[in-house]
Amino acid sequence: MNKQPIGIFDSGIGGTSIWKEVLKLLPNENTIYLADSKNAPYGEKSSNEIIALSIKNTELLISKGCKLIIVACNTATTNAIDYLRKNYNIPFIGIEPAIKPAALYSKTGAIGILATKGTLSSELFEKTTEEYTKNITVIEQDGEGLVPLIENGNLNSKELFTLLSTYIKPMLNFNIDHLVLGCTHYPYLIPKIKEIAGENIVIIDSGEAVARQTKVILAKNNLLSNSFEKSKHQLYTNGTIKVLSKILEDVSVKFTVEKLDF
Ligand code: DGL
Repeated sequence: MNKQPIGIFDSGIGGTSIWKEVLKLLPNENTIYLADSKNAPYGEKSSNEIIALSIKNTELLISKGCKLIIVACNTATTNAIDYLRKNYNIPFIGIEPAIKPAALYSKTGAIGILATKGTLSSELFEKTTEEYTKNITVIEQDGEGLVPLIENGNLNSKELFTLLSTYIKPMLNFNIDHLVLGCTHYPYLIPKIKEIAGENIVIIDSGEAVARQTKVILAKNNLLSNSFEKSKHQLYTNGTIKVLSKILEDVSVKFTVEKLDF
């Protein structure tokens, strides 16, 4: 029995798409979520800056007693998870664009990847792409500007739809049949992506897989909680509470959102 919380961090509200999957799969676990909205977007920062921000978030979560940390951000994972694993003595779960299943199941032989510049330019991403897409055409698209617009809290703005269209439409010309979402903010755009791309494109996001992997690693390390007490969920943001709360409107379990300067 281990009642210590699972820590989760992201450059902002996007990682809540992972947090929601964790709530579904691991209802007995306590969680602490950090939305580092003040420093978003990470995707436009240098690798060293992303590592420094990941250290800051990790140390805050460790100081709050977290037993495992989910790096709920593709950009932070692809740039910083090796460093974190080497320097801190708790398990880390990361999220990377799910290129492998997209390449494996593609019938047209062309897949699209929408991710941040920080992810697309990382060594880890390059390595994975090389390994799994030998005979596949991979259309990489930097989603510059999408994260700040999502962080503004208006998922239905015309500006967001127009920008998204300029990124998705050219990929369709390459006859892609799978679109990999390589940023945890992007699952919140799925309804809009479908409007632009139609229903035939398979959209892949890895939120559920991350929750499954978290369960496996907790079990392996004997860290699963068997507590029958109601689980506690605390979310901290250094941005606006209103925006974070709005994205959590569909969550039925009890949680608290607090503003914190970190
Ligand atoms: N949610 C982050 C990711 O998965 C967004 C990165 C950013 O802040 O640019 O990459």
